[in-house]
Amino acid sequence: MQITLVTQPFAALEADALVSYVFEESDPVQGRVAEIDKAAAGLLRKLAKSGELTGKWNNATLRKIAGSALRYLKARSVKNFALFVREGHATEETAQAIAEGALAANFETDKYKTDKKNDKNIDSVQIAGYSDLERAAGDKGLSKGRIIADAQNFARDLINEPANKLTPRIMAEKAEAMAREAGLAVEVLDEKRIADLRMGALLSVAQGSPEPPRVMVVTYTPANLKPGAPVIGLVGKAVTFDTGGISIKPADGMEKMKYDMAGGATMLGVMRALAALKPSVKVICVVPSTENMPGGKAQKPGDIQTAMSGKTIEVLNTDAEGRLILADGIHYAKQLGATHLVDAATLTGAIVVALANINVGVFGSDQAFTDKLLASSKAAGEKMWQMPIDDDYRDFIKGTVADIQNISSGKGGGAITGAMFIKEFTGDTPWIHLDIAGTAWNDDAKPWLAKGPTGVALRTLVHLIMSY
Ligand code: BES
Ligand code: ZN
Ligand code: ZN
Repeated sequence: MQITLVTQPFAALEADALVSYVFEESDPVQGRVAEIDKAAAGLLRKLAKSGELTGKWNNATLRKIAGSALRYLKARSVKNFALFVREGHATEETAQAIAEGALAANFETDKYKTDKKNDKNIDSVQIAGYSDLERAAGDKGLSKGRIIADAQNFARDLINEPANKLTPRIMAEKAEAMAREAGLAVEVLDEKRIADLRMGALLSVAQGSPEPPRVMVVTYTPANLKPGAPVIGLVGKAVTFDTGGISIKPADGMEKMKYDMAGGATMLGVMRALAALKPSVKVICVVPSTENMPGGKAQKPGDIQTAMSGKTIEVLNTDAEGRLILADGIHYAKQLGATHLVDAATLTGAIVVALANINVGVFGSDQAFTDKLLASSKAAGEKMWQMPIDDDYRDFIKGTVADIQNISSGKGGGAITGAMFIKEFTGDTPWIHLDIAGTAWNDDAKPWLAKGPTGVALRTLVHLIMSY
């Protein structure tokens, strides 16, 4: 699908469909909408009078408008359309948002369907309503938006893969291929290196599966690296399938646990975008990957493991495995030089109870850093909500026979417990944990997005890193 930005006046636009938008205002037919109304012989005025043209429909952001328009028109076999932006809106941010919204909306999960409905495809989108003077800004936004949406769709494609098509080894191969193509440094640690590094927490999860674990390390280094600049460490949970292990999950809905690698896929997608956007800070991405299986060699509830950091862990529930692999991933990212850490993980069912599928759960050890991320989430149009992790919760993970335990014992606050566990491995390094268990997967299609993987948090993290 092509997206272009055009500067001809409204009357000279050529497209099969024209899209614009109104606000919740006393007269929706004003400004550029009045222009369209004139060309449409008063049709919009009629719609407004009948109450059908109001700013209520899905008007949250331009991303959603562009995405909803695309999916609406695609379903009706329209091949191309122009989105006419409103007066005063012809900016870089607008073009970026429209490109992001349209390209994300165009993503479908029909990869494994043999009879794809290829007749329903949007060939091109024109972003219209820009003057010649506004073109440079618009083109810049369009190209940024394209990079970010392509990266988001790359992540969504990985998340959508079933576990038999995406084992830790295959995921690592895909990460290598992406990094090579993007011009990023990449290293994949195999099970031997992982053992040599004593990543005991990751290995304890991996031991229940015949599939060996991997750790992907992708690094972006800016051309002129300033001494003393922050080094961002991105750590993503990539459990390619989570059965729960010996603390096995119920069969009903277990198939969804193929998306338990969404955090890792999202971080790889962030790196893919950064390679093209070229921020001024160094970014190290660490993605520990394993299956969580109940094989004969699987770890058992009560087992005590030693993490790479040296901390000992009582594994009271083998289904709380994400925090185990993140413990070693975080420690390794720090060892590689990260001064600021962000992890993303489909960590807990409890965050779905707390925030449903609407907000990402945000946990932060440094309020200034967390505020920066929350500001980026607003700019990127991804809803996030901060949760507490004060010291009063430390008791929840205090171990009885080892240093810490991987679940709390009937105290509630499951998402916070998960965050407190990860925090143990961050030391003094400013750190943010994103629990995306509720938001990484859409159970129902939205007007602007297909059912399935969302790629949530990618746009926020790209915005955060580009703001340094
Ligand atoms: N991968 C799950 C969390 C999850 C739940 C992701 C729902 C997506 C949707 C995680 O590994 C897990 O099983 N967490 C347990 C922790 C519990 C044993 C303390 C949970 O949330 O039930
Ligand atoms: Zn689990
Ligand atoms: Zn899991």
